[in-house]
Amino acid sequence: MTPGPGQQNGTGQPSGGEPLLSVRGLTIDLPGGAVQPGLVEDVTFDVHRGRAVALIGESGCGKSLTSMAILGLLPAAVRVVAGSVLFDGVDLLTCTRRQLRRVRGGPVGMVFQEPMSSLDPTMTVGDQIAEVRRLHLGERRSVALKRAGELLERVGIPKADKRLRSYPHEMSGGMQQRVMIAAAIACEPKLLIADEPTTALDVTIQAEILELLRDLRRDLDLAVVLVTHDLGVVADFCDDVVVMYAGHIAERTPVDGLFYEPKHPYSSALLSAVPQSGRARTNLTVIKGRVPSAGHFPAGCRFEPRCEHSVDSFCGRPQADTALSDDHRTRCGRVAGGELILKGAVRG
Ligand SMILES: Nc1ncnc2c1ncn2[C@@H]1O[C@H](COP(=O)(O)OP(=O)(O)OP(=O)(O)O)[C@@H](O)[C@H]1O
Ligand SMILES: [Mg+2]
Repeated sequence: MTPGPGQQNGTGQPSGGEPLLSVRGLTIDLPGGAVQPGLVEDVTFDVHRGRAVALIGESGCGKSLTSMAILGLLPAAVRVVAGSVLFDGVDLLTCTRRQLRRVRGGPVGMVFQEPMSSLDPTMTVGDQIAEVRRLHLGERRSVALKRAGELLERVGIPKADKRLRSYPHEMSGGMQQRVMIAAAIACEPKLLIADEPTTALDVTIQAEILELLRDLRRDLDLAVVLVTHDLGVVADFCDDVVVMYAGHIAERTPVDGLFYEPKHPYSSALLSAVPQSGRARTNLTVIKGRVPSAGHFPAGCRFEPRCEHSVDSFCGRPQADTALSDDHRTRCGRVAGGELILKGAVRG
């Protein structure tokens, strides 16, 4: 069920000043421009200190590629062909490998969906967390291990002293994810990138991990980029939202804007496909068709073949990313031109 938007957001306050992370025109493709105009094209968004930004959209829309590109962690077959990723004023796409290594696991932490694919099965969890501090802060092993124990306690793992000596396979999925989070926050990052950090976990553990992330946000004034399919989590945890569709940003807005006044028919369709409390029982809407695969994007609006509001003569043309206000943008020209009024999903 979708809670009311904006209930539990970290600070909830828009912060002024320079963004901590500024992604501009990020375009990702296979080598040689194999799937032009790109698997991901012209992705632009900011993350301010202490704020949480959700990346949402159906499977294959480019959320993971976008989040991996920020830290230069794209799979070998894929590369950034245009754009910039400024973190604290440094372009992570053009900085040296050494600078990038200093940022990863230092001021920027990352948590993935499958902890077991990120944790080393041959090392104790204590050594894995300690290694982050040894690498970044040059701490001696004994000092780093002591701190690792404190971090395990901080992420809610009881008997941390004993657990330091456990191997990942000796822990449950929820515990492993806590270890991943402990490693990600080991050097008190300013930004955490989390790609579906709770998807592989059962519902009660999901809630606990989100609660932990919320506490960490508050305690560390942490900014978060959260990839999720769960609109309840977006409403509950995030301040801003980036809706991705077929490698583009369809809409970018503060969370309330998404839930009360979605401006792209794709956002509106995503919302209609989610059960809501306090609303009469009706059949959930299904978005007909599927996301086009990369290399087969329509020439005009990418959502046009599935859009119930499409008008051939207009939507068959490429749509510009258009500002509706300081913090709300859409790539639907019919909405941007004021021609189309979408129903708000919560008030509507
Ligand atoms: N290593 C790769 N080589 C070629 N294409 C890739 C590679 N990784 C991803 N893609 C393609 O890029 C597009 C975006 O993939 P991405 O993993 O970012 O989607 P996503 O939004 O994270 O989806 P999901 O919700 O399923 O995780 C998809 O069309 C995918 O097939
Ligand atoms: Mg993904």
